[in-house]
Amino acid sequence: KDQLKGRSCLTLFDYTTEELRYLLDLAKEIKQKQKNREVYHPLKGKVLGMIFEKSSTRTRVSFETGIYQLGGTGLFLSSKDLQLGRGEPISDTAQVLSGYLDGIMIRTFKQEDVEALAHYGAIPVINGLTDDYHPCQVLADLQTIEEVKGQLEGLTLTYIGDGNNMAHSLMIGAVKMGINFKTAAPEGYLPNEAIVERAKVIAKEQGVSITITTDPKEAMIGSDIVYTDVWASMGQESEQLKREALFKDYQVNEDLVSFAKDDYLFLHCLPAHRGEEVTADVIDGKHSVIFQEAENRLHAQKALMVALMAD
Ligand code: CP
Ligand code: NVA
Repeated sequence: KDQLKGRSCLTLFDYTTEELRYLLDLAKEIKQKQKNREVYHPLKGKVLGMIFEKSSTRTRVSFETGIYQLGGTGLFLSSKDLQLGRGEPISDTAQVLSGYLDGIMIRTFKQEDVEALAHYGAIPVINGLTDDYHPCQVLADLQTIEEVKGQLEGLTLTYIGDGNNMAHSLMIGAVKMGINFKTAAPEGYLPNEAIVERAKVIAKEQGVSITITTDPKEAMIGSDIVYTDVWASMGQESEQLKREALFKDYQVNEDLVSFAKDDYLFLHCLPAHRGEEVTADVIDGKHSVIFQEAENRLHAQKALMVALMAD
């Protein structure tokens, strides 16, 4: 428990399997407290700054609601309005904000910026999405999978689509929790090789596999969890049309999911584009748990904030 206090969450590489297990158990406990309307204020008087350089619905609302429910306050800080947006160095921003706040959540483009904030600051920094990682989403995803499947270890998760922030964080979270990871994307859009190499070391320790292919059907075979994400992420809007053409054979539709296990679960971090990366019959069908997954952002992040920020 005390092991996590004062630390940051920059990627899921930061945490051991045991630490992730602790966070998932705490998230379950905190969710139950919220359902029982119990007053639970371990972060009374604490302030979380939330820096956004990209849009957000779930991340913003779940962090702001979460810190409030834990007895603290959240400050929404648009990078457009901060001096950061006018060129003030991250190192100065980090040191200044460390004098006011108890934690920072940041959503931005470059992973290095999040790392610099944590390096120069003296308070926990939580990665609320970068171009390379989205750890908070995956904490909620793991919580959701465990709630519905009753276990994590031994399952197979297939991520179809762009080798982006979601692909990376899902791969790390999956193998750390004993889940086999499979992914398919067109050549040139597969996950970052350096990240895959690091994840493979963990997969070996955990006795699970990582399968990377350009064939979506091969990736889907034997899958318990089917996951996809947008083809063009935030910051890639100008590539939308090019990517629609490139990814058209990677749509998660009834034909493709017929290769997964009969009782597969469908997850998507949202926002989704029905008719692009996933068809409406799949995302709105009986295997889909997208709204339970979105709700769990609240509970998983409350657990994270308590673990990192409580006295
Ligand atoms: N899944 C997710 O992070 O959603 P937002 O972009 O709405 O925060
Ligand atoms: N890959 C998407 C995830 C959004 C939650 C993006 O970065 O835009």
